[in-house]
Amino acid sequence: MEPQDTEVATEIGDQTVAKPLLAVENLSKSFGIQPLWRNVSFTLHEGESLSICGASGSGKSTLLLAIGGLETVQSGTVMFDGHPVIGGRQAHVKGIGYVFQHYHLVEELTVRENLLLPFSIRFGSRQMPDIWDEVLDLLGLKELLDRLPTVLSGGEQQRAALARAVLAKPKLLLADEPTGSLDEATGARVMKLLLQVCRCFRMSLILVTHSPMFAEQTDRRMVLKNGFLSEQTP
Ligand SMILES: Nc1ncnc2c1ncn2[C@@H]1O[C@H](COP(=O)(O)OP(=O)(O)OP(=O)(O)O)[C@@H](O)[C@H]1O
Ligand SMILES: [Mg+2]
Repeated sequence: MEPQDTEVATEIGDQTVAKPLLAVENLSKSFGIQPLWRNVSFTLHEGESLSICGASGSGKSTLLLAIGGLETVQSGTVMFDGHPVIGGRQAHVKGIGYVFQHYHLVEELTVRENLLLPFSIRFGSRQMPDIWDEVLDLLGLKELLDRLPTVLSGGEQQRAALARAVLAKPKLLLADEPTGSLDEATGARVMKLLLQVCRCFRMSLILVTHSPMFAEQTDRRMVLKNGFLSEQTP
């Protein structure tokens, strides 16, 4: 992969090597004495997309949370954008966005208010996201801004949840079964939009999915099985 302007690059001999945006090294997690996964290691570069498949209960959601610093681990390190991600919530507000199976929109707030809520918490209410128009156009949300989430279809709610995550311009998006509550056709549309948005804003993506068809659409594929994460060769 070619190093980008915004990436930190290191000279090795006459070669320039781009540093990864995310470096996960020897991460291990147990609940009590029960190990969940061991020695999970991988790197992800800016703009790259990666899918993680695995049986229910294999620990995919726990792994995503650990990568985002929202779940503790027994050992290992996660470096994101040159900084260690440790237990706690700072990574949540520093360049990592989340999209979940259940949209977690605030039911009492309109779509517009939902989209602006995290942004105004971070940057204050006077400043509008600079990519507001672009994101709304891409995700087809302009007509829905004044509606409450309760009157939206699942696909519309997920598009709103995706916009809410993207407006803060995260460098990395963690998506945990974002199409899990949608029918096949709607899920395919949301997946297409998700990948399009990531390309458009050069966000890296880690997608947890049960769908081999969606996993196929990411740059790289991994499987979590029997406590180990392994990369599938193309
Ligand atoms: N806080 C917790 N305390 C104890 N066990 C937990 C906790 N959180 C998750 N687990 C267990 O860890 C295992 C992995 O859970 P996780 O949600 O990460 O799986 P998953 O691969 O995302 O599954 P699914 O595909 O069903 O979403 C499960 O057996 C779950 O019960
Ligand atoms: Mg899960």
